Amino acid sequence: MTIEENRILLPKSELPASWYNVLPELPEPLGPYLGADQKPVEPSALAAIFPKALIEQEMSNQSIHPIPAPVLEALALWRPTPLIRAKRLEKALGVKSRIYFKDESVSPSGSHKSNTAMAQAYYNRQEGITRLTTETGAGQWGTALAIAAKHFGIDVRVFMVKISLTQKPYRKVIMNMMGAEVFPSPSEVTKAGRDALAKDPQALGTLGLAISEAVEEAASRPDTNYVLGSVLNHVILHQTVIGQEVQKQLALAGEKPDYLIACHGGGSNFGGLVAPYVPMIKSGEKITAIAAEPISCPTLTAGKFTYDAGDTAGFTPLMPMYSLGTDFQPPAIHAGGLRYHGASPIVSSLLKSGVIKAQAVTAEQVFKFAKLLANSEYIIAAPESAHALAVTCLKALELESLGQSACLVFTLSGHGLLDLSAYESAA
Ligand SMILES: Cc1ncc(COP(=O)(O)O)c(C=O)c1O
Repeated sequence: MTIEENRILLPKSELPASWYNVLPELPEPLGPYLGADQKPVEPSALAAIFPKALIEQEMSNQSIHPIPAPVLEALALWRPTPLIRAKRLEKALGVKSRIYFKDESVSPSGSHKSNTAMAQAYYNRQEGITRLTTETGAGQWGTALAIAAKHFGIDVRVFMVKISLTQKPYRKVIMNMMGAEVFPSPSEVTKAGRDALAKDPQALGTLGLAISEAVEEAASRPDTNYVLGSVLNHVILHQTVIGQEVQKQLALAGEKPDYLIACHGGGSNFGGLVAPYVPMIKSGEKITAIAAEPISCPTLTAGKFTYDAGDTAGFTPLMPMYSLGTDFQPPAIHAGGLRYHGASPIVSSLLKSGVIKAQAVTAEQVFKFAKLLANSEYIIAAPESAHALAVTCLKALELESLGQSACLVFTLSGHGLLDLSAYESAA
């Protein structure tokens, strides 16, 4: 293990060999997923769209899941990722706090989404699936899946939220280069899409609707499965490589975290960072985990804890989660990946039981601190990640005003090099 200036790096041999499952650690067991008849969904009902291995992980009570060798090899293409002490950002803020960020932007897709994309593509291929459908908001997940599917030899069709496709046309170019087909959602390809267009031909699209389109198509073809880039338990499981690496890297730096902060769209990068720390938080260690979300899509801070569908058409099971309602239409904020009405059941449960906190920030705050990061660390953060950055900076400034300092860690879940139109219009 080496520390090069402010970069805390781990050798390949320190790549976590297993995923950490937080389900057995939740203060209250998760309620079952329910069907439209309000009865618990049997695992066999999910088999029409998911491989068996992922259904088992979704409902598993086993704490440790070894990572299969082909997935480890794929992750080793870019992992372990660096943990970086943002000293110039600290100086620019004028704070004594130590700020670290886990740099997930170094993956082939430019975000943390590759961590689960590789695993999900592998398990589907193992079970004979040759075609996958999915939705994407910002395009990061679609890009990650297109690359993972290329790696494991699977075809992909992506339904991309129309407003995000307009804002980020180059994401489509990358997905197409990897061999994936991309449709703006709502599309004419599915009934859910056609119904939405009939209601509103100008619809900007939502993640909930794009999920309906992808699920509808997967359910109607035996060679096709559906994959989701966030929300579900197995997605958070795959993302726990983030938190496990952070634990080793902070130990190497002689630090313990006071604050763990990540942005929250559906909960996967937040869950991946925080899940391995849940046993410590529960045992009374003073670690405050904060999920950062936009004030314009305030699922965790203003949503209701309820059973709700993951999509607009109601094809997915009902899940126990914080939700703004499946009809919620977020304004066209630029953080496309944070435009989701719901939240992961795991993150919802942790919030409800007080293990974690949530904080909403304004677009002005997000872009102000994104600019400060660019000017100090020379990094263009994805607008989603800049929500975590903003909460981190606000907390560091608040502590400073109280004459205090702390160790704050946030996830840089992705880079913003394909989000420049968002920064241009915010300037
Ligand atoms: C860079 C980036 N960060 C964060 C998110 C939010 O997703 P999640 O809450 O699952 O981490 C997205 C979603 O597309 C994203 O692209």
